[in-house]
Amino acid sequence: MKEYKNVYILDHPLIRHKLAIIRDKNTNTKQFREVISELATLMAYESFKDVPTQKIVVETPLETVEQTVVKENSIAIVPILRAGLGMVDGILSLFPAAKVGHIGLYRDEETFEPKEYYCKLPVGIEEKVVMVVDPMLATGGSACDAITMLKKRGCKKIKLMSIIGAPEGVSKVADAHPDVEIYVSTLDRCLNEHCYILPGLGDAGDRIFGTK
Ligand code: PRP
Ligand code: URA
Repeated sequence: MKEYKNVYILDHPLIRHKLAIIRDKNTNTKQFREVISELATLMAYESFKDVPTQKIVVETPLETVEQTVVKENSIAIVPILRAGLGMVDGILSLFPAAKVGHIGLYRDEETFEPKEYYCKLPVGIEEKVVMVVDPMLATGGSACDAITMLKKRGCKKIKLMSIIGAPEGVSKVADAHPDVEIYVSTLDRCLNEHCYILPGLGDAGDRIFGTK
């Protein structure tokens, strides 16, 4: 894969440790769900480094001091349904005031093309930093479509957070949306003939919701 200025691989021993757990086929639904959420928290810590802030004055028991705090109402999280839902609470644990929108997309099983079935976004999302979340970035079709929908809605500052990225999908999104920062915790090897990521973790939605 060529090098992209807008792609960030968030490598950390703790992230690697948790990746090993979610990749393991013997990890049960409860633990899978918990660890996906924890990974989202760890990734949010890094990927929101440039979160909008504002100055406030705080009174300590001894004197007043100017401090920097996260700007209220500056963030929106947009999970791609279904699997993206598994990452929302982990990000909200750091940014409890964030608004949450939903984009429903599923991959057609034969063409692997994303099909839209739902879109509900917070009022005023155009002015916010929007973090699109989906644990898997495979062909990149779903993420590209979600980002295009957000741009059509007027969003200007969009980021994408995926736990596992395939080179094919990362390249597709990075080429189509060079203005979007893409955060993954690992870049896997490739896609198989069914467009599943190798080594990957299988079907993220099914593993989060226990549907298979
Ligand atoms: C999975 C995953 C992504 C998409 C990635 O969802 O959660 O949304 O596939 O594939 P792509 O990069 O090739 O588009 P899926 O369509 O299986 O729906 P689900 O989350 O409802 O299971
Ligand atoms: N969607 C998943 O859930 N897993 C993959 O490996 C690819 C797409």
